[in-house]
Order: sequence, then structure tokens, then C-alpha cells
Amino acid sequence: MKINSICCIGAGYVGGPTMAVIAQKCPDIKVTVVDLNESRIAAWNDSDFTKLPVYEPGLDAVVKEARGRNLFFSTEVDKAIDEAQMIFISVNTPTKMYGAGKGMAADLKYIELCARQIARVATSDKIVVEKSTLPVRTAEAIKSILDNTGNGVKFQILSNPEFLAEGTAVEDLHRPDRVLIGGNEQEAIQSLVEVYGQWVPKERILTANLWSSELSKLTANAFLAQRVSSINAISELCEKTGADVNEVAKAIGMDSRIGPKFLKASVGFGGSCFQKDILNLVYIAKSYGLDEVADYWQQVVIMNDHQKHRFAKKIVKKLYNTVSGKKIAMLGWAFKKDTNDTRESAAIDIALDLIAEEANVMVYDPKVSENQIKNDVNNIENNIKVTADPYQACKDAHAIAVVTEWDEFKEYDWKKIYDSMLKPAFVFDGRNILDKEALKKIGFVYTAIGSSN
Ligand code: NAD
Ligand code: UDX
Repeated sequence: MKINSICCIGAGYVGGPTMAVIAQKCPDIKVTVVDLNESRIAAWNDSDFTKLPVYEPGLDAVVKEARGRNLFFSTEVDKAIDEAQMIFISVNTPTKMYGAGKGMAADLKYIELCARQIARVATSDKIVVEKSTLPVRTAEAIKSILDNTGNGVKFQILSNPEFLAEGTAVEDLHRPDRVLIGGNEQEAIQSLVEVYGQWVPKERILTANLWSSELSKLTANAFLAQRVSSINAISELCEKTGADVNEVAKAIGMDSRIGPKFLKASVGFGGSCFQKDILNLVYIAKSYGLDEVADYWQQVVIMNDHQKHRFAKKIVKKLYNTVSGKKIAMLGWAFKKDTNDTRESAAIDIALDLIAEEANVMVYDPKVSENQIKNDVNNIENNIKVTADPYQACKDAHAIAVVTEWDEFKEYDWKKIYDSMLKPAFVFDGRNILDKEALKKIGFVYTAIGSSN
């Protein structure tokens, strides 16, 4: 079946950019992205493209090209479902915070609501595509809900997990390493292959059975996060031994079996996916009685928590074991550069640890709003201030903590910053992005991740 109308439920970090690119690359397909969140939809429809709800380099241009032509953002969920031949479910699947599996399992209530809504509304046959990241065998539950409507409408289910990373979403969608489509019915699979085939080379479109596809997404994130935790574990050992984690990462990354990517030691991984997906994997393994498998993956999260708290502890220790009443500038709040997303950002834990030690934290981030930052620390903290000026953040500070690797941090006038700080002026480079030698020459006491000098 040739697809000419698509609906996507969920206009978030995945639904928005993914559908914008599908609409851009497939001008013959009408793509409608729907969401219950009215202000989010209003922001997607804003005539000021700096107000789109998701910041991604290049996304404004894609939306500009397609919006109003064949890309639409709407809150009319029922109408969009009924009109579409293919429905992507791209709603959030956060860690469940209640009942059985609390703190580990994926909360699938939004997914189930979508399935029930599709079942209730659809009057013609539909292909339903799982775009959200889901536990393996979720399609079974969705199918069971859809097949029990009794109205004769036929549903086919596909799994099409999204591998984009935030900050590079448009690039990743334009040139994906691979697109994965899992399904049991060839005809439905082929319909989606043809959509992606309009811009993705055929050899990069991979098909698989439903369960392999669902499990591949959790596995990919677990492997990626594991690399970060592995290098972060080595970073701590480097700090004790005089080895330098950048040199170790380079040396091991040149082994083609290991490869150079995802070996940057840091304050710890953040983002809405890694922790949630690993915990979900751990829960699934436990639910099959596979305790060793569960423990193995759990350690990746344990290591990450350790890395975040270790960074805050190091700041306190270096500042003569107390930060009480001291101003600490935090440069960066997003969980990585080039995004306005702060979900699970290491910055949050670090700030809370410092505030618990009675520090006065002042935050600067180029893309995250003051509201968001305050919200992330539950609006209860009066020891945290936000500024739109990085020099203001650093003025009269005892220390600077770099927590996000924004490129602009490298370009600052570091002499000016030094002159405005209390002495000794400490810099804790949680991303190893600054010019260590230049900073030391200015007079900073510079501390990196994963090296002792
Ligand atoms: P998000 O929270 O940014 O967006 C989800 C949206 O769905 C929200 O705007 C919410 O209002 C909407 N929604 C929820 N229930 C709804 C309903 N019943 N009807 C209409 N709208 C509804 O989440 P996200 O980051 O886009 O992630 C979505 C899914 O994609 C998750 O499963 C996630 O694991 C997966 N994923 C995320 C990324 C990423 O980098 N963020 C990458 C790959 C996969
Ligand atoms: C991740 C996956 O990369 C992506 O394929 C999936 O679709 C969603 O989850 P995302 O969370 O957006 O993407 O960003 P990613 O680039 O993976 O970074 C995750 C975290 O790991 C960030 O906090 C980042 O700073 C950190 N990280 C990454 C490191 O600390 N070191 C590295 O070498 C790489």
C-alpha cells in the first residue's frame, strides 16, 4: 500500500523532528503531528521559529520548508487518527514511579491510552507503528487492544524504533546509520520501507521480526551507555594513578574493534533515554528470572550515579572541604550540547549536591530557560540563581563547574573571567573541553575528569 497520510501521536523530541523530516523528504505524504499538550502544539505552530519547543540545529529550516505544505501540528487527535493510513505512536515511556516495577519498569500508560484511542476512533484499516522505545513484546499488548474493537477494522503493527540523538537529530534523521523496521506482515513492512526509501539508501533499511526490533532499541542504548560508564570508571582510576583518560581513550579507540566514538569521560551521562532504558532492560531480565543479566546492566547505572556525585564531592574537597556560602558558577545545564533538553542531566544532581553543602550556585546555559532550571530543582531552592550572561555567572565565584560541553565555553575571554573571580580561582572541567595549559597559565587551578594534573 502506498502511504499518503501519516499521523504521529506525540509532538516531543522524537515525534516533532522525525515527522518534520519525513514531511520534508516526502512532499506527497500529508503528515499530521498531534499532542494533548496545547502549548507544545502552539509552539510548533509559532511564526517565530526560535520558539519551537525543541531546540535542534537545523530543525527550524526543516519545519519552515514543510509546515503548512504537508506538515501540520494539531491537538485534534481523533480527526488525525481517523484520516491517516499509518499512525506513529511517539509518546513518552518514562520509568514507572508507582506500583509493581516502580523505579525500573517502563510506564506504558500513555502507550495503552494511544492504542485504546486508535481502537475507538479508527473507521478504516491502519498500520500502527511503535516509534516510542518499548519493552520487548509490547506489540502483543497493543495488538490485543486493537483487535478487540469488534468493528471489523484491521490493524497491522510495526516496530520502528528511533535512533536519533538529541543535538544531532536532523543530521541523524537525514543520514541515519540504519533504519530498523520490525513486523510480522511483509506488506506493512514494505509500506514503511517505501516511506524511508525516499531518502535513505535501501541497504540502510533493515527489517527484522517485531521482538528483535523492540529489543534492539533497548540493547543499543544499553551498549552506548555502557561505553560511557566504562570510560568513566577508568577516569577515576586515571585520577589515582597519573594516567590521563584522554590518552587512554585515544589509545584504545584506535583499535578498530573498539572504535573511537563514545569514549569521552564526563560528569556522567544524562538524557531521557539511557537510564530509563537500562532500568527497563534490567526489569525485563529480572522478570524472566535472569538475575545475573539484570545485575550486569544495573552496574552501568550505578557507575553513572557514582560519577555524578563524585564530581560534586571533588569540588567540595578541593575548595578546602567546604562550599558553604561560596559562589559556584555552573556553565551548562542541558544534558549535552546543542539541545535545550535537561531531562536526567548530570547538572541537576551536581547542583543539588552542592546546594546540600550550602553553596550558592549560579547557572548559565545558552539554551535552557530559567523556568526549566528552577523547575528541575523543584522550585524549592533559594541557593540557585540563573543568569543569561556567563561572565555574570563567574563574577566573584570561588569556582566554575563546566557540566555541558557547549562549544561557546571554549571561546570565552578566560583572562577576563579569572580577573573577576575570587582567588584561588578554581575550574572543574567536567567535560574536558577547555584548554588546560592556557587556563593554568592565566592562573586558574584547573581540574579535569580523569587526570591528576
Ligand atoms: P517527549 O516527552 O518529548 O514527547 C512525548 C509527547 O507525547 C509529549 O508532548 C506528550 O504530551 C505526548 N503525549 C503523551 N500521551 C499522549 C496521548 N495519549 N495523546 C497525545 N499526545 C500524548 O518524549 P520524547 O523524548 O519525544 O520520547 C518519546 C519516545 O521516544 C520515548 O519512548 C523515548 O524513549 C523514545 N526516544 C527518545 C529519544 C530522545 O532522544 N528523546 C530518542 C529515541 C527514542
Ligand atoms: C541516546 C542515543 O545516542 C540515541 O541513539 C537514542 O536514540 C537516544 O538516546 P541522547 O540521549 O539524545 O541519545 O544523546 P547521546 O549523544 O547518546 O548522549 C547521552 C549522554 O551521554 C549525554 O549526557 C552525553 O553527554 C553523554 N556522553 C556521550 C558522554 O558522557 N560521553 C560520550 O562519549 C558520549
